[in-house]
Amino acid sequence: MAVRIAGIGTSLPAKVLSNQDLEATLDTSDAWIRERAGIVTRHVGGITSQLGIEAGNDAIKAANISADDIDLLLLSTSSPDQRFPGTSAQIHAGLGLNCGAFDVNAACAGFAYGYVAAYAMMMLAGGPKRVLNIGSDALSTLVDYDDRSTAILFGDGAGACVMERHEQGELLAFDLGADGDLAPILYCRHGGTIKMAGREVFKKAVRAVAGSIEATLKRAKLTPADVDVVLLHQANIRIIESVCTRTSLPMSKTFNVIETTGNTSTASIPLAMQHAANQGVLEPNKIVLMSGFGAGMTWATLVVRW
Ligand code: ACO
Repeated sequence: MAVRIAGIGTSLPAKVLSNQDLEATLDTSDAWIRERAGIVTRHVGGITSQLGIEAGNDAIKAANISADDIDLLLLSTSSPDQRFPGTSAQIHAGLGLNCGAFDVNAACAGFAYGYVAAYAMMMLAGGPKRVLNIGSDALSTLVDYDDRSTAILFGDGAGACVMERHEQGELLAFDLGADGDLAPILYCRHGGTIKMAGREVFKKAVRAVAGSIEATLKRAKLTPADVDVVLLHQANIRIIESVCTRTSLPMSKTFNVIETTGNTSTASIPLAMQHAANQGVLEPNKIVLMSGFGAGMTWATLVVRW
């Protein structure tokens, strides 16, 4: 038994914030942001629950099922609507689900963590047959728009997958990692805004993600040449390029949305997945590698035979 993705859904708020808009209020430039981060526009003004409901609805429709067919909702987010209940409860109500629901906070690695957790639960006897795995974040609610080092990077969005028990879709290997000593390089306190030591995060992320990818491929007994589709956390195009160089994965196998979404945290991998699906590359038996990293620091890599 394995688990396939039966449907993907996404949501981005309507409001677009361009580099030119940021130039008007910050000491920055369109050229600097494009060159240093690979971002041109991002969507802002979202609410985590609402984006999650929209993406979840889309994924349920794409899977050609109804809300009643979902056996578990797993939401990853680091920008919950409120302290409690979990934002998964609001999404549960908004979608009219009739199943369990819980939140995961592993920052930008949340969707990949959620994928592995959902897969494992689905393997249990009596476990869920279908899990709605949603990554939703509205980081614009946590950004200090006077801080040019973070204001240029982040955007809002959500991505969702219906994960369904199936004979295809085997999880070949995974690697989940964390280094809590690195919490001070990227954090957001209750009621505060995002604080980030960008250069430090950049260096640690490249090292952690590259190591995690190598470990995962080794466990799966695969080489970089065996991988067909690479879905990396969309934080900075230069991080993606550096990870590819270190791991010998060609950039041509990566599917990226960062130019138009910025860093949408846990939503970025399912947004990239939808982009890859739109290009027609997510066909049965393709080897798909996903890897995310974020505050914590946390990181998570998985490789699946689609
Ligand atoms: N516009 C113009 N200049 C800027 C800007 C800006 N927006 N931001 C910084 N600078 C300046 C700096 O002040 C510095 O000037 P100096 O040389 O005179 O001191 C210079 O540009 C270089 O600054 P660096 O911080 O070294 O720039 P870097 O190339 O590292 O790029 C960036 C900065 C884009 C933030 C990069 O470090 C990065 O992407 N880091 C990773 C961030 C990340 O991935 N965060 C998300 C993790 S996921 C999660 O959990 C949310």
